[in-house]
Amino acid sequence: MARRKFIAGNWKMHKTVAEALALVRDLKRLLSQVRDCEVVVAPPYTALYPVAKALEDSSIKVAAQEMFYEEKGAFTGAVCGPMLKEAGCTYTLVGHSERRQLFGETLESSGKRVKAAFKAGLIPIFCIGETLAERKANETMKVVAEQLDAGIARLDGESFKKIVIAYEPVWAIGTGVVATPAQAQEVHKMIRERLHARDSKAAEVIPLLYGGSVKADNAKELLGQADIDGALVGGASLDAESFAGIVKARST
Ligand code: PGA
Repeated sequence: MARRKFIAGNWKMHKTVAEALALVRDLKRLLSQVRDCEVVVAPPYTALYPVAKALEDSSIKVAAQEMFYEEKGAFTGAVCGPMLKEAGCTYTLVGHSERRQLFGETLESSGKRVKAAFKAGLIPIFCIGETLAERKANETMKVVAEQLDAGIARLDGESFKKIVIAYEPVWAIGTGVVATPAQAQEVHKMIRERLHARDSKAAEVIPLLYGGSVKADNAKELLGQADIDGALVGGASLDAESFAGIVKARST
């Protein structure tokens, strides 16, 4: 069965509200004809609501970059799922390597976030991937499997089949060093097999995205791999033409 293509742009800590609105205005224009691909943008918190408003008449969806698993309380600086849902988000990233490495997110807390996202009516785009040291030590499959298992452990069958997973080798993020299509496919295949062990029907429809230095000129080959259904794009999503170029480069 053909899985739908899925391209998400992670803006990280970039774009004021005014800049964010200018970017989505251009994206709407450039992508108005795209029907067979789920297109998602993940602005910083401050721009979520205005961007979601600006996209109301478009098929482009909005994701948060992170959410806390508690629903309310004395958690200074944190934002919960229900707030993101109300602000207009359909998705939220969970477990991005920058959250794991710079903000102390753990295997345990990523699983709680995935579960809490579904509870709030959001779809998690769950990010996993090995560091360069782990790859060099031949631990890629073990590390990625461990992260995957921690993320899906708490899910019931209904939620499980809706999750989106992004494989992002940490050494490829923001470095300009992209995984070869074969390297990426090898890990995606392992992820797909692991999802199969849990629920074969669901495993066939869950979108698996690749992330790490995706650009318009390498997207087509990556997305042509059997188990790569889309991309999570950082740097190249900050410019409308380059992000639209990636969406247009997807193989259908
Ligand atoms: P990059 O970031 O495309 O700039 O490598 C990808 C990501 O962090 O999701």
